[in-house]
Amino acid sequence: MNETETRKPDFDFENFTFGVQSTDRMLLAAYQKGEWTEYRIAPVQSISLSPLAMCFHYGQTVFEGLKAFRMTDGKINIFRMESHWKRMNRSLERMAMPPLPRTLFMDGILELLKMESDWVIDDPDYSLYIRPFVIATENKLGVDASQEYLFMVVLSPMRAYYNKPLKVKVETDYIRSARGGAGAAKNGGNYGASLLPQINAKKEGFDQIIWLDAKEKKYIEESGTMNILFILNGNTLVTPALSDSILDGITRDSLLKLASEEGFTVEERQVAIEEIVERIENGERVEAFGAGTAAVISPIETISYKGKSHATYLEPDAGMYRLKNKLSAVRKGMNPDTYGWNQ
Ligand code: COI
Repeated sequence: MNETETRKPDFDFENFTFGVQSTDRMLLAAYQKGEWTEYRIAPVQSISLSPLAMCFHYGQTVFEGLKAFRMTDGKINIFRMESHWKRMNRSLERMAMPPLPRTLFMDGILELLKMESDWVIDDPDYSLYIRPFVIATENKLGVDASQEYLFMVVLSPMRAYYNKPLKVKVETDYIRSARGGAGAAKNGGNYGASLLPQINAKKEGFDQIIWLDAKEKKYIEESGTMNILFILNGNTLVTPALSDSILDGITRDSLLKLASEEGFTVEERQVAIEEIVERIENGERVEAFGAGTAAVISPIETISYKGKSHATYLEPDAGMYRLKNKLSAVRKGMNPDTYGWNQ
């Protein structure tokens, strides 16, 4: 394949595992001598790095995740690209890495998507996941901020991330992030450190975990790799307020805005795990769900806390499904794009 040729992907769009297959092309740009170079788009191939490259040693890696959809008018929509660019730069700043110019991020992704447009098929359950990332590439074992970086973007077909409601366990030993830490950054280390507790929870029969705050182990922070939201009594959307230990989720933000439009009362505040458990025990209607770019909305079926399982509200009239459909309709161009989210 040359760099301009487009061809129908030889790919089974119905049956595949997320994240294993990339499209044919990727974007690359290097940072050297204090500047980002022009990006180039090349066939997907392995890259070569020295074993001394700093990304292998001290965790200077940052990534983003966004999605492209085929809209009902046939155009491709890259959802909330500017918000993802801004968040990526916040993550880069936290990890002492250089910011990406807007044109490099946005024009680069637009051009890559143009070349790979055949991978954005018209299907309501399908999206093309866009994974921009930056890694430290200077060859040096001294602990320091790298002076050289590589920005890359790869694309990967996606359908549902989870295909059933989740059984989650409230994690009372491990924590994901503490105040003053890097939990609000999308850096690889946050995800690496979450794997062991996640594997342990799986062994106990759970799909995911709910993270509590590091200090008091009292307040809910996130669920697995997602933000967590609750709908109380069918009319109040509650979610933990953002902090430097909680990711500023773009799906979270979109849902909060759409929920207000739908007439929900929206509360961003501290949410004690005891409050949620007590509400369920008192027979209140409590919906719980994770929200993230990959999974969009992941309904939670049970919350297990200190060995006791609590069942949430999952009936078809649950408000979370309404919000999910509304978000999906905006992204596909079937609802007005009130906030200018579609690119
Ligand atoms: C997302 O929900 O977009 C995530 O960050 C999950 C991703 C690591 C696959």
